[in-house]
Amino acid sequence: MIDFECTPQVALEFMNREHRKAFDDANALKRLLDSALALRLFGTSESEAVDELGDEIETEMEIKTSQLDSDEIEQLMETLLSDTVRHFELEEEFMEEYGFPARGEHSEEHRRVLQWMKDEHSLWNRDCSIEKINHLSIYAADRFPKWLLNHIVTMDTVMASYIHRHGGTSL
Ligand SMILES: [Fe+2]
Ligand SMILES: [Fe+2]
Repeated sequence: MIDFECTPQVALEFMNREHRKAFDDANALKRLLDSALALRLFGTSESEAVDELGDEIETEMEIKTSQLDSDEIEQLMETLLSDTVRHFELEEEFMEEYGFPARGEHSEEHRRVLQWMKDEHSLWNRDCSIEKINHLSIYAADRFPKWLLNHIVTMDTVMASYIHRHGGTSL
């Protein structure tokens, strides 16, 4: 897991704030997916053994918990996506306003990642397979944070320092 405290900060504070939130939300998503995975694995073996009232009540509670987790996962994915859309829009508004030379490449990378994010999130539904949950957990814990870290230390760092040097102030 990537530690945001060890991530270099960029020259515009609103970007640092939003990057931190994206890392936090991805970590929270990973934890929810892992608990959904554990419940799925536990639920499968447990349902085979249900033959007493106590076990039935327990299974019912598992299903309700699973439903709650599922709603939370969907909400968190929506938040992560809408926050990312807004974050990219703000960066693009700054790049446009200050005439940042590499704004075309930077915006193209944003579009590519938004599509990737939408594709990944579309894999989720409350009945999705253990393999898909596992895939999404790796995306939330590893692939997305690694992309974000790389984007911060390359494109975002260059863009924020250019805007800062040209008089741009943070929100
Ligand atoms: Fe950014
Ligand atoms: Fe960016």
